[in-house]
Parts: sequence; C-alpha cells; structure tokens
Amino acid sequence: MIEKIISEINILKKELNAIILAHYYQRNEIQEIADCLGDSLALAQQAAKTNADVIVFAGVHFMAETAKILNPNKIVILPDMEAGCSLADSCPANDFKEFLKNYPEHIVVSYINCSTQVKAMSDIICTSSNAVQIIEDIPADKRIVFGPDKNLGNYIKNKTGREMVIWNGACHVHEIFSAEKTIELKMKNPDAKLLVHPECKGPLVVAADFVGSTTALLNYTKNSTAKKFIVATENGIIHQMKKFSPNKEFIEAVGNDSCNCSECEYMKLITLEKILACLKNLQPQINIEEDIRLKAEKPIRKMLEISEKLGL
Ligand code: 13P
Ligand code: SF4
Repeated sequence: MIEKIISEINILKKELNAIILAHYYQRNEIQEIADCLGDSLALAQQAAKTNADVIVFAGVHFMAETAKILNPNKIVILPDMEAGCSLADSCPANDFKEFLKNYPEHIVVSYINCSTQVKAMSDIICTSSNAVQIIEDIPADKRIVFGPDKNLGNYIKNKTGREMVIWNGACHVHEIFSAEKTIELKMKNPDAKLLVHPECKGPLVVAADFVGSTTALLNYTKNSTAKKFIVATENGIIHQMKKFSPNKEFIEAVGNDSCNCSECEYMKLITLEKILACLKNLQPQINIEEDIRLKAEKPIRKMLEISEKLGL
C-alpha cells in the first residue's frame, strides 16, 4: 500500500516537475521520500534556488509561506492547511505592530517561525541555525527587538552579550520539556549527552552538553564519540540520528508528568496520503498578496545573503 502511494507520488512529481521539501520533524516515511530534508534554514535556502515548478512543503504553514514568498510564480502546496505553529500563533501581527511602536529606532529581527505579516514588519529573519551570527552581524550601536521566541531570544542574548527587547512567545513542544525531570533522566544515564534545541526553556539550555538547531544536534550525534544521547527537541529528528548512528542510543527528553510529549502535532498532520492528494489536485495552495509578499521577502533575502556571506 505504502509502496503504491510512493510510486504514484514519484510519477506525479516527474510529470509536474515538483519537489518535496521536508522538515526533520516530519513523519519517518515522509523524511524518506523528501527531495530535500533539512532544518528551517536549509529548507529556505533550497526553496530560494529550486528550479521546480511545484513545491510541496512537508512542514508547517510558515515554512510553506516562506517558500511562496521566495517563489511568487511557483505553485506552493501545503498538504494540510491546519499544519500551523504555536510559536507563530504566539505573535499576532496586530499586537506585534503595536509593540513595535515602542521601539522605533530598533532593528527588528524575527525568527522564521512567524507569519508573513510579522516578517513584513521585520528587518532581518533568522533561524536557529544562524540566529547568533545574524545578531553578531548587526553593528554594536544598533538596538534590537527580537521576536517571537523568548527562549531563543534569551539564549542569543546570553551567547552574544547583546541587549535585546524580546517578544514573549514560545513553542509548546519545546517549552514542555522539564529541566528537573530531564536532569533526573541524565543522572540515571550518566554516560548520555544532553542535546537541547534553543527553543527550550533557559534551565534546560543551561544544563545541556550541546545547544543547537536540529541540523546542529544531528551533526553532534554523528561526530560525538558518546554512545547515548538525551534529545530535547521534536522527536522526528531521532529518525535521522538513528539512521546515521545505528549503534548509538537516543532517549527523548521528558515533561513534568514524565510524558513523552516531544511530538509536534502540527508537523505530524502531514501524511503520505495527503502528499499524494495534493499532487493530484494541486491544492491546497499558499497564496500571498503581492504588497505584503514584497515586504516579507526583503528580510528573508537579507538572512539568505548574510548566511551565504558567513558560509552557513
Ligand atoms: P530549526 O529547523 O531551525 O531547527 O527549528 C526547529 C523548529 O521548531 C521548526 O519548527
Ligand atoms: Fe512550531 Fe514548535 Fe511545531 Fe516547530 S515544533 S512547528 S516551533 S509548534
């Protein structure tokens, strides 16, 4: 059955000159059929350079929007329009607009996990792969507003020593991990390295052996001599970690009630069946009004330029 769906997907992809971009948090079977699998930065970079006519985004809404902002003349499809993001939702555009009125002289740096409207109010976009370098690239005399993720914002603030005004937003998946319970888990597994995504809360970040974006965490597990890892990010990445290091052990970080809650339900809304259906129907498509698209494109292009300059 799965084989039949995959074969139909491959036939349609060829016919339509379509490409599937998938985030590491996608279901395992989707990671396996992706033309490009990566973190938010890699996927934005791929979207910026693809020659495909159709982009199927196996990810969440803001990611597909970013692809459309960069490709106004291509068809960009999100297989399930309900695939949102709690972090993007924690920053409503109207509230952000009011908030920015208090900081007129500031450079606005927004994490890519935000709506097109919020991007359009920003000067530079960043992802967890390049946030530190993007902030360091801003002249020291400039004041900075950072949104919408407060945990990433505080992480960068500590790392760079830059003063920043930070919007109070967060991702429900990364916030749920408990530092206390995860440290208990580490005490039971003293040989394990604790890997933490910077969207997690401060105490967990402080306890980490390594902090980084999904790609950085994956690379750490490939290169480390350690044999065991506790992973504090969405559990989709563990599929790749196991693939590259089949003899290493990966343990999911835990929440307060010791739940294994490291799953983003939005990411997991995308299925092979929905990918096939959207290739058949060329729906649902992402559409963005041109005036707001143009405003949102500028800070994304700026991020891509800086990343290229820095070899990221
Ligand atoms: P990265 O892809 O930058 O690691 O971000 C993780 C994330 O939460 C994406 O939604
Ligand atoms: Fe958004 Fe968090 Fe899901 Fe990433 S893991 S898409 S930040 S809700």
